[in-house]
Amino acid sequence: MGIFAIRGGCPLNGSIRVQGSKNAALPILAASILANGETLLSDCPCLSDVDAALDILRYLGCRVERECGEVLVDSAGLCRCEIPDPLMRRMRSSVIFMGAMLARTGEAHITMPGGCELGPRPVDLHLEAMRSLGAEVRQKEGAICCRANGLHGSRIELPLPSVGATENAMLAASGAAGETTILNAAREPEIAALQQYLRLLGVSIRGAGTSVISVRGGLRPAPCRMTIPPDRIAASTYLAAAAATGGSVELLGAVPEDLTPVLNVLRQMGADIDVARDRIRLRAGKLRAPDLVVTRPWPGFPTDAQPPLMAACLRAEGVSVFVETLFENRYRHAEELCRMGARIRVNGRVATVSGTESLRGCVTKAFDLRGGAALVIAALSAEGESRILDVEHIERGYEDMPAALTALGAQVRREE
Ligand code: EPZ
Repeated sequence: MGIFAIRGGCPLNGSIRVQGSKNAALPILAASILANGETLLSDCPCLSDVDAALDILRYLGCRVERECGEVLVDSAGLCRCEIPDPLMRRMRSSVIFMGAMLARTGEAHITMPGGCELGPRPVDLHLEAMRSLGAEVRQKEGAICCRANGLHGSRIELPLPSVGATENAMLAASGAAGETTILNAAREPEIAALQQYLRLLGVSIRGAGTSVISVRGGLRPAPCRMTIPPDRIAASTYLAAAAATGGSVELLGAVPEDLTPVLNVLRQMGADIDVARDRIRLRAGKLRAPDLVVTRPWPGFPTDAQPPLMAACLRAEGVSVFVETLFENRYRHAEELCRMGARIRVNGRVATVSGTESLRGCVTKAFDLRGGAALVIAALSAEGESRILDVEHIERGYEDMPAALTALGAQVRREE
């Protein structure tokens, strides 16, 4: 398993370009099945989750070519409508292929997806949306079989604004006859990116970014290309690292409005932040604890930014309080941070962080993607050397993190 060896104490200074968004790229790669032809994506991040999506596309019979951030998918040769369990288990977004396969072929045979272990992550809302559009959905021992003799438009009211269920409903509705309305839809920026891509395929779709999305099924596939937008969570992570190490960092290509709730918390903590159309500069100040941080569906504070911001709070004066409302078990990084001298008390969904003068490097272990990023931030701001184990979790969502941090003056190297 991979290891990051980090020598702390170096303030991060300089500028880096923000990687393409993992959580925008993955549903668009699933949607490329609907193109029934060529899709060319630019700024597609080099991540193991993206590799998993490309392996699924190849298994389904698509031609896939990749040159750095340029990914070409030709889905004309699609010849399967089932994804085997080992491919499904590699990430959460494998479940989004269900809606795309149903829309393209009328069938989808999958198993439960993988992804970070953050507590229960059911797919009941995804399946209800498929049924609402006319699919017969059967579950047996972890296998999910969907069949539809033609999907039809529907009114889908989500009990909670699930990002994945919204994306799956958008893809299946794109292949349904008539009008579909998705109520209480997720409003995350990645939904707008998916809408932008579906419009390239001729789908009449509107409302992304609001709670009501309307889709008129109908695909007019033609070769298309799109640039993946920048990753707002990766951007949030590097800003948190700059704040935690007392540095001054500029993020090129960042979209400030996609980080509003995170920038608000960093400003409360005393960071000096300037924004322009496509860049963000943060100059760290003496950090102080922010007001209560409660994670919420967008446009609330994003749950994915909770672990990195918690790591920044370790060096803030005062007591920081986090409430994690989306996932039951998203504080596994807290125990590892305490090994470095952090003072964190977790009680169910509430974590209380007492700022501390110093952290000391040690051996820690990543359990999930964003929790692993929190360990990196703490190691960068600690005294001495740290070794973070199982960094494969981190490499699912951060493109060559050691290179990005080294470019900002950090001492980080990857070891096997
Ligand atoms: C997406 O996961 C993101 N992943 C997650 O990012 C992110 O944390 C999450 O949205 C919330 O913003 C990708 O986009 C690949 P949800 P998703 O469905 O779609 C419950 C990262 O670090 N729920 O919005 O799985 C669920 O249990 C990852 O990049 C149901 O109950 O999230 C959770 O409590 C981690 N039934 C809540 O909804 C369902 O059918 C939000 O989940 C679906 C979800």
